[in-house]
Amino acid sequence: MRKLTILCFLLVSLLGTAQAQELSPTEASGKVVFDKWCEPCHGRIAGGVFGGFGAHALPGTSALGVKYKGDLPAVLEDRVDLQPIYIRTIVRNGLYGMPITRKTEVSDADLDNIIAYLTRNQ
Ligand code: HEC
Repeated sequence: MRKLTILCFLLVSLLGTAQAQELSPTEASGKVVFDKWCEPCHGRIAGGVFGGFGAHALPGTSALGVKYKGDLPAVLEDRVDLQPIYIRTIVRNGLYGMPITRKTEVSDADLDNIIAYLTRNQ
């Protein structure tokens, strides 16, 4: 039992290290803010269950799926073409189904971190 506990602890710390190596501190902070403010609409869905039921529950992901018809990833976090100015403009001004995000909700510093996170693979 004790060995199992130690093994679990080691595994969890290894996983934690692997994740920390992937993202810089700025990008990691950006992911935290993204997960709170953007993920509910832009999260990852795999076609829903029972042949699509629930697939449209995430407005951002489903709208971008319709917009790009597979030419670009529907999941924002998979994109490698997003420009910082484009992200900033849309977050502050909204776009069709996407509401504006106020500075009292996501501060400019937080938005910079989100941008660092979304452009990390470019
Ligand atoms: C209430 C749901 C909702 C939330 C919350 C939301 N979005 Fe969106 N977002 C959308 C929708 C819907 C679209 C698609 C607009 C369209 O039809 O072009 C979109 C589009 C975008 C686009 C444009 C992508 C493109 O290729 O045109 C960006 C960038 C974006 N969102 C970033 C964000 C970020 C960053 C956040 C968090 C701060 C966020 N969104 C939060 C719903 C949301």
